[in-house]
Amino acid sequence: MSPSPVQFTRGVPPEEVLLVDELAKITTEVLAERPTEVFQYPRIGGNLGDERLRAALAARHGVDPRQVFVGNGSLQVLDLLSQLLLGPGGGDVVVESPTYDRAGLIFQRHGGRVLGVPLNGDGLDVERLEALVARRRPAFLYTIPDFQNPSGACASEGNRRALVDLAERHDFPIVEDTPYRRLRFRGVEQPALSELAPHRVITVGSLSKVLSPGLRVGYAIGDPGLVAGLAELGEGTYLTPTPLSQAVAARCLELGVVDSAVATAVSFLKPRHDAAVAAAREAFGDQVVAEPGGGYFLSVLARSALPEPEFLAAAADAGVRLARGSAFFPGGLPDGRLFLRLPFQALPEAEFARGVRLLADVLTR
Ligand SMILES: Cc1ncc(COP(=O)(O)O)c(C=O)c1O
Repeated sequence: MSPSPVQFTRGVPPEEVLLVDELAKITTEVLAERPTEVFQYPRIGGNLGDERLRAALAARHGVDPRQVFVGNGSLQVLDLLSQLLLGPGGGDVVVESPTYDRAGLIFQRHGGRVLGVPLNGDGLDVERLEALVARRRPAFLYTIPDFQNPSGACASEGNRRALVDLAERHDFPIVEDTPYRRLRFRGVEQPALSELAPHRVITVGSLSKVLSPGLRVGYAIGDPGLVAGLAELGEGTYLTPTPLSQAVAARCLELGVVDSAVATAVSFLKPRHDAAVAAAREAFGDQVVAEPGGGYFLSVLARSALPEPEFLAAAADAGVRLARGSAFFPGGLPDGRLFLRLPFQALPEAEFARGVRLLADVLTR
């Protein structure tokens, strides 16, 4: 019997890092303590989210709770944010190339013209960005500075400073998406863009990768005016985010369960990351985009004459499933290249190594 396919398809947390017993216990406690609150419609009219949750998030980020807006997962927050920033007339949205494909689709849905700027191993190509924004001011720039999805790249401090400096000079807002920021296995934490330019940067955060994706808790941090605008759009769409999920998330933050979940994830994922880097280097050498040092993803920009559909079909025949690499590039893949996103978080080391060897074989045929 042939082994089951190696799945390099999705960035889902491995079951081993979900603290399900803890979450179940806390949910029971919340149900006992706040039953009417979590089973009733919450107050509407400027509801920015559960107050305890917003207070806990504000303390974590060192901001005022009036700056915190909670939504049902960070993708929903991105949806509302792009609607707000683009307005009825639409506009340009500059993204990293490659970028998170779902975010790009959301921006397009709200009338955004999505323009990609090449991403290097240490962050956005700031010179190319400057050439682009000098021609026309974008509605906003969307970036994932820490352990980016899909490339794994982590922007250096110098790159972050150059980016916020450019945004200041050309006067455009930055949306910084940070779901993987706390999942660092190697190296030192780089300053958040919001720390470098608080008035220019809107931070989007998520508890999906540091507590539970099933709770669907995401948030934005910005100035109180922007946050109020998000609440108004949210209320017009779904009234308020889910009270039970928010109450559970609040208690988890208050009791330090998010910190324990981060520590569990980091110690579980670090060996997987290190083995994945070694396996990918052996199979693809300098075609590996970056050694991430954290997060879920590693990626390869492979030289190949094969068209992408044929490559994906050949990979599937060889027993490897991949996301379509071109979907991450708003302007299409660079000539003569294929992009392989290799999530390492959910695969045991040997399985990951088997997958990259099979892909390297397909590419050298
Ligand atoms: C960069 C990025 N942003 C947002 C999300 C979505 O997160 P959430 O579960 O909070 O909607 C993901 C999930 O993979 C992601 O990689």
